[in-house]
Amino acid sequence: MSATPSRQSKPGRGPVIAVDGPAASGKGTIAAALAVHFGLPHMDTGLLYRSVALTLWRWGGDPGNPFEAVRACSEMGISPEDPELRSEAVSRIASAISAYPVVRAALLDRQREFAALPGGAVLDGRDIGTVIAPGADLKLFVTAAPEVRARRRLKELEGRGMNATLAEVLADIKARDARDVERSAAPLDQAGDAIVLDTSAMDREAAIAEAIRIAGEKLGRP
Ligand code: C5P
Repeated sequence: MSATPSRQSKPGRGPVIAVDGPAASGKGTIAAALAVHFGLPHMDTGLLYRSVALTLWRWGGDPGNPFEAVRACSEMGISPEDPELRSEAVSRIASAISAYPVVRAALLDRQREFAALPGGAVLDGRDIGTVIAPGADLKLFVTAAPEVRARRRLKELEGRGMNATLAEVLADIKARDARDVERSAAPLDQAGDAIVLDTSAMDREAAIAEAIRIAGEKLGRP
């Protein structure tokens, strides 16, 4: 692994860490752990799309209409702790509305501003290393085999008392992957200079430890 400092890192500024990857890859857990380890603020950008989706859902708005979705971007007032943000209905609507270029454009500035915080930041999502913070000091692309991600998601759903089969969850993960990868606006894509972290054979602790090791080496900070 190269320890060459990023060309974009500037003296006196904190590091920017971009964590991208597909659904249930472990990127959110890894991003949160990196933020704690390096003392950086963390933005889960998926929550922005989920907040738009939940706002729209509570209005009874049409997820098939980009203009209703974009109106929800300016009027959302959802607490990040709202349990409905993680519901299956909201996940489905978030996946649909995140494909609209007008929605992505409406959410761009707040993500870029967060990435420009002088002390540095960690952001996780689908397009952080490619669109939001292309000059990030570290780009991690966190992935895992679809079957492994489906088993993790099923465990999470069961933990919340919800019923689903592995086949249903796997089909949903594959459909979401396809929508993320195939959309024309900011598709899920690995930045050319991203470091891939495949968590298929790792448990939570091992994935976090490996991410911290990679980041420490890349950023020159233990
Ligand atoms: O990561 P999470 O599953 O919470 O994201 C919710 C939805 O928002 C996903 O369907 C994903 O397609 C979308 N998303 C996105 N770009 C991001 C973060 C999330 O399109 N940067």
